[in-house]
Amino acid sequence: MKQTLNILQNTVIGDIERCKSLSDLSDIRVSVLGKNGQLTAILKNVGQLPPSERPIIGQLANSVKKSISEMLDKKIRLINIEEWNASLKEEVTDVTLPDKGFLMGHRHPISQTITRISESFRRLGFSVESGPEIETDYYNFEALNIPQDHPARDMHDTFYLKSGDLLRTHTSPVQIHVMKHQKPPLKIIVPGVVYRCDADVSHSPVFHQIEGLYVNDSVSMAELKGTLEFFLHDLFGDTLAVRLRPSYFPFTEPSVEVDLECPFCKSGCRVCKKTRWIEVMGAGMVHRNVFRSVGYDPDLVTGFAFGLGIDRIAMLLFNIPDIRLMYENDNRFLKQF
Ligand code: PHE
Repeated sequence: MKQTLNILQNTVIGDIERCKSLSDLSDIRVSVLGKNGQLTAILKNVGQLPPSERPIIGQLANSVKKSISEMLDKKIRLINIEEWNASLKEEVTDVTLPDKGFLMGHRHPISQTITRISESFRRLGFSVESGPEIETDYYNFEALNIPQDHPARDMHDTFYLKSGDLLRTHTSPVQIHVMKHQKPPLKIIVPGVVYRCDADVSHSPVFHQIEGLYVNDSVSMAELKGTLEFFLHDLFGDTLAVRLRPSYFPFTEPSVEVDLECPFCKSGCRVCKKTRWIEVMGAGMVHRNVFRSVGYDPDLVTGFAFGLGIDRIAMLLFNIPDIRLMYENDNRFLKQF
């Protein structure tokens, strides 16, 4: 057995020394030290030897294994250095060639849209706030007057986390965070990322909303309408009509859906689905239960809130046909803005 081991060691070491490539080295490692390798087989059979021989042969086999393995590693380092040196010799840098030109980056269409929307609301006295993207059920639903068994939860296609928390499905939970920490009057907008389990040409599982909230002692629906009209005209030009349609949100009462006259056509097109109107946001007067959940007295304050999809606005501003393009980061697409 001793002899077999010595012969094996000598042949393998000779093989390694003659080796010229990393793949040949790898073949040797497999045939000797691999699961069905020659040395592995010997080590497996040590147990069958007479007890007096076991420790001697076992020790020898292990030291052969160690020295072969060290040899292999050393040779790998050597071949790597040789290959590196050879490639350095071959690849010369011609410093006289002209350069490739300097590529200047720019802001993503969504960031540009957020800036434009925020500027518009800043002129009306709104300040910018933010809140967490991982939310509790309480902030995303409960405090917004959406209790456990409320059917409106189905519309949200929520991503739940193992902890029981969730990825916020809208920016409305930030209304609660802000009202819990500040006293009225307050006038804020909240741009941010939101998540819903949904994807097609007009839905992405990650998208952006801007929440708006104005709370004071006598805020009216007329002020909501005036504010949204000012904003939409500022962004799209004041020739386009704006209309409010009755709608339903658990956290506003009354609630409306806000439509903008289609900027692309006079008689119906693909973008407005031949209706001449494009739905741009949800809005309404803050529900009394929402005020109660943040400790405001609903007899003393009133307010309006709105939530608009930034991606939808960016698609309209830049004429982008598919929302998913904005998340693929294909340079050919991004270069255009
Ligand atoms: N949070 C609503 C949504 O995501 C939008 C909304 C915000 C509606 C504020 C009314 C008031 O659909």
